[in-house]
Amino acid sequence: MTNVVVVGSQWGDEGKGKIVDWLSERADIVVRFQGGHNAGHTLVIDGISYKLSLLPSGVVRPGKMAVIGNGVVVDPHALLAEIERLKAQGVTVTPENLRIADNATLILSLHRELDGMREDAASNSGTKIGTTRRGIGPAYEDKVGRRAIRLMDLADIEALEGKVERILTHHNALRRGFGAPEIEHKAIMEELTSIADQVLPFRDTVWLMLDKERRKGSRILFEGAQGSLLDIDHGTYPFVTSSNTVAGQAAAGSGMGPGALGYILGITKAYTTRVGEGPFPTELTDEIGQFLGEKGHEFGTITGRKRRCGWFDAALVRQSVATNGITGIALTKLDVLDGLEELKICVGYKLDGQEIEHLPASQAAQARVEPIYITLEGWKESTVGARKWADLPAQAIKYVRQVEELIGAPVALLSTSPERDDTILVTDPFED
Ligand code: IMP
Repeated sequence: MTNVVVVGSQWGDEGKGKIVDWLSERADIVVRFQGGHNAGHTLVIDGISYKLSLLPSGVVRPGKMAVIGNGVVVDPHALLAEIERLKAQGVTVTPENLRIADNATLILSLHRELDGMREDAASNSGTKIGTTRRGIGPAYEDKVGRRAIRLMDLADIEALEGKVERILTHHNALRRGFGAPEIEHKAIMEELTSIADQVLPFRDTVWLMLDKERRKGSRILFEGAQGSLLDIDHGTYPFVTSSNTVAGQAAAGSGMGPGALGYILGITKAYTTRVGEGPFPTELTDEIGQFLGEKGHEFGTITGRKRRCGWFDAALVRQSVATNGITGIALTKLDVLDGLEELKICVGYKLDGQEIEHLPASQAAQARVEPIYITLEGWKESTVGARKWADLPAQAIKYVRQVEELIGAPVALLSTSPERDDTILVTDPFED
């Protein structure tokens, strides 16, 4: 028995929702450790669809504890709205089943506004990131700048006055630069005091609680958001999110030691997608890209934006296997490839006439690389709903084996439709 960390091994949207749901049923505690309400997971349980963006998946299952760790940036308004939405669907969220680290950073309305102002200004100069405009980046900047308001600060109104003063000095200077009206101290104090009583009951010393649970032998599932190529250090910088999305962050972002993390499961889509701007060596702008997008329903859960689609990039996933320490992968959406005459997999790149095995870190070089492909035979039969290897056509098995070999990690789970049971289980990560 071990704990499990789930991470995306590409640019997010790998289909983590279904796998996390399957695992959360077997876990005692589900912990988010980075990101915020920029994530989007859809869970389908007993025919009911739940859309989560900030809350950990465990929250919809009775008897599970959901935890938001210190590495997450929490928009209290988004939190309360999500709790209300779930309530309307019959799910009760109380401190009995949700705890939030008292040292988690808060996203304020000024962060959301700054995110939007920057993206708008960047649109005119062609340098926009294509963020979710949720204020994620600006909130992490304030955390690292040591001027953030943290959840626990709402409990000490006197000290909060000074903290608000400090954060406003910074933000009003930025706002003057954008020609936006300055924010009054009173307005932020009102914003925070109006929600304090509703969010403070969820606060907890999460590292301590998790340590006790670990000693008791509870099964802990760490639920990553976004993907490894959006990691602030290891991703395609600057077209990344503002947190570390790799598995190591599960430790720092929850207060649990890395030795207790256990099995690292990399969710990996059988092709590649990306939302927002940034390099994408295997992107297909032709009818095959269109086919993948339509068949794979590649539209953002949160923003509804159309995702860019392309061939599977084994060089990038091999890199994610290394930077996360991935033990095994859950391969998703194989059925989207059904019916394609032939399939390509990127195995490395050409850069200025030279062959290289990994994506270079420089933005300029990333824009210049050309993928080197191998071509595999496609299959005509449907793989939808396959539950054992024998249900798959020989060419599909060959494709999966080729992926395993190229990325250097085995398939632990193979998902063949959005339905929970349409999964080929090779290894149960909790039992590995
Ligand atoms: P931010 O996280 O809103 O700052 O956005 C930064 C980049 O990360 C943009 O390219 C977003 O499209 C991308 N991003 C953020 N969250 C997700 C996600 O959950 N899935 C896929 N892409 C995401």
